[in-house]
Amino acid sequence: MARPPRGTGETARTRVVRNPWRPAAGVARDAELMTALDIPTVDLADLRSNDRSRIEVACKAIREAFGTYGLAYVKGHGVDSDGVMRLYDEFRAFAKRPEAEKQRLARPDLWFQRGWTPPNTEVAVASGGQPDFKECYFMAPYDNDPVLEAQYPELFPPNVWPENSDAFRAEYTKMGRALHEAGASLLRGAALALGLAESTFTDICEGGAHVTRILHYLALAPEQVDTGIVWGEEHTDFNLLTLLPGGRFVDPSGKPAPKPDDKSGLFLRTRGTPENPAGVQVRGRPPEGCIVAQIGQQLEILTGGEFVATPHVITAPGVAGWTRDSSAHFMHANANSVLYPLAPFQSDSARKSYGPPVLAGTYAIKTLADIGLAPKSVIDKLGYRHYDRLEAQRRVQS
Ligand SMILES: [Fe+2]
Repeated sequence: MARPPRGTGETARTRVVRNPWRPAAGVARDAELMTALDIPTVDLADLRSNDRSRIEVACKAIREAFGTYGLAYVKGHGVDSDGVMRLYDEFRAFAKRPEAEKQRLARPDLWFQRGWTPPNTEVAVASGGQPDFKECYFMAPYDNDPVLEAQYPELFPPNVWPENSDAFRAEYTKMGRALHEAGASLLRGAALALGLAESTFTDICEGGAHVTRILHYLALAPEQVDTGIVWGEEHTDFNLLTLLPGGRFVDPSGKPAPKPDDKSGLFLRTRGTPENPAGVQVRGRPPEGCIVAQIGQQLEILTGGEFVATPHVITAPGVAGWTRDSSAHFMHANANSVLYPLAPFQSDSARKSYGPPVLAGTYAIKTLADIGLAPKSVIDKLGYRHYDRLEAQRRVQS
């Protein structure tokens, strides 16, 4: 049994941003399409069984889900949905604490990889992008590996917690671990689905900067409605695999409620096809009791594009005062693993598309600077930093 995974991480932006309220010509976007697309559901009980035919059913679903759509619906996941809602209640209570108290948990020195991320902190990489309209909290559900902590201190910092937050901490950790375990089962199935050894991806995942995030999307004022504000701009995640246990809308009175209109919430974009080169945007609405798993850039790279990272956007409603709670668990490749297509996927085009090879930790540092969570100056960490020593020696000599 592999030791518990390690953690931190975040989502990255790609240059695909377009206001989803105004779809580009040729982009099909309709909540009903989700049913028509028939995104497969993977039952983790099948993967965990010793029945070869059940395992093959799950692998077939994974091949189609991750290969065609970049996402899967997952049942048998073991995540306590009532616990997730309790966690959202806890985070709402935290969000109402005094600004000064929250600011003490905002840690730019940790590149916001733990604790509170204030509104207007994270930005889209894409030109014309805007800060996301949200506040968040990050924590890692497992202890850090001390060696990785020394090598990448900002990717593997200790957790930080608000005062008097035992329930928040307990629910948060429980959810993060359940999502991680579900993701590990899925990664084992993903390896089998591609004809690889079962532990291929879970071995790479061991020692990743895994992190769990809660997000509170902010209410729009009446004058902000229909002005192009997006809760979270369209992007692909930069990690290996993201698990989404499901969010909820909250009405202006503070009560959880069904979505206020058809344009609010999570939409995912499928891979382009000859008929639909821009792909199809579908509402992220899994069957009852299922969670969503989506492919990140790292798994796309390792598979040479066999599995594709899923662009997704979180749209704000067309009415004022509504908010949304949501969460995600980001599983990462080991910070010292090389991101490059694995041997079976090294076609000429994959080498071109995904080269040069890069360490996952280096990739994370660059991406966190790109999205505004780390200062741009951290890019200077990526290479030799001691040229001044020769200068100093020469000064002594003269
Ligand atoms: Fe994301």
